[in-house]
Amino acid sequence: MALRRFDLEAGGENFAFDPDTEPTIEFWLGKYPAGRKQSAVIPLLWLAQKDNGGWLSEPAMRTVADRLEMPYIRVYEVATFYTMFKLAPVGKHHVQLCGTTPCMLRGAEDLKKVCQRRIGKPMAVTDDGKLSWEEVECLGACVNAPMVQINEDYFEDLTPESFEEIIEKLRNGADVEPGPQTDRVFSEPTGGTDVLTDPALFDGSRAAALARVPNAPEEPPEPEAKGEPPAEPPTNTVREEVTDDDVERDAAEISGDRPEPMDVPHSRRDDLKQIRGIGPVNEAQLNDLGIFTFAQIAGWTGSNVEWVEGYLSFPGRIGREEWIAQARQLAGQKDKDA
Ligand code: FES
Repeated sequence: MALRRFDLEAGGENFAFDPDTEPTIEFWLGKYPAGRKQSAVIPLLWLAQKDNGGWLSEPAMRTVADRLEMPYIRVYEVATFYTMFKLAPVGKHHVQLCGTTPCMLRGAEDLKKVCQRRIGKPMAVTDDGKLSWEEVECLGACVNAPMVQINEDYFEDLTPESFEEIIEKLRNGADVEPGPQTDRVFSEPTGGTDVLTDPALFDGSRAAALARVPNAPEEPPEPEAKGEPPAEPPTNTVREEVTDDDVERDAAEISGDRPEPMDVPHSRRDDLKQIRGIGPVNEAQLNDLGIFTFAQIAGWTGSNVEWVEGYLSFPGRIGREEWIAQARQLAGQKDKDA
């Protein structure tokens, strides 16, 4: 880590938090028990940095120390250890350029040249006070390398040209749009994706399968305040009552043969979750289909498997996880124990 020194001249003699910051300070202090408020040192230093134009002057650190009743040296230690705290003035737009391996391999060196050419030396503020930059270690957005952080926003998938354009806009007070600077959506492959392209994966229609959890615990209702009208029932709840009509409607569109449903009394139902690959959600869906026992699953034909895989939306999984072999074993064990 580089040697980090305070800029003792630039910070003046005094610092005070912005009155609007006080509620946030109280919020952080309230998170820790009495006698432990020093635990709030990092959030308070962060707030002080924001109120001080993006960097921590020595009076700002002292103010935090006084507020938390900490020795000044303890606060200096924290501020000088974490590179998120700037110890010298920065520009209105401070660029943190990631130079770690993934970004470096994807062109960070070229972005660095843009910084040097358009802004100047690291941690030097431009004459108009608008810009400064520094190189930092991985900012955790490697999948969209190369990238920079400007104040609190990430700008990703940069090229020297797009980065230069952003810097120019900031210098001119124009708006910039954070995020990937290509037509890439989030972290999908460059040039678009050729897997998981089925729109049904994203349009919410498959959520219906997850909604069929008959035994999932309901949110307890809010107690009603005296004199107030009863709360409106939620209109966008995810869970929904599954009716036989729902099952029939979904079932009609699936290839294969639906396993014969059975009406099995509670006392004779098996815990289908003992089959590896069946969790509470799948068990509930199988129960919706009238499947309650190991013996039923053990007797499935290939056509039944195809149908159930289609219904549960996971082709090939029943075979891979050997549900039928597991069910046969469990059913056999059950017969022996009986
Ligand atoms: S290496 Fe640049 S964000 Fe991780």
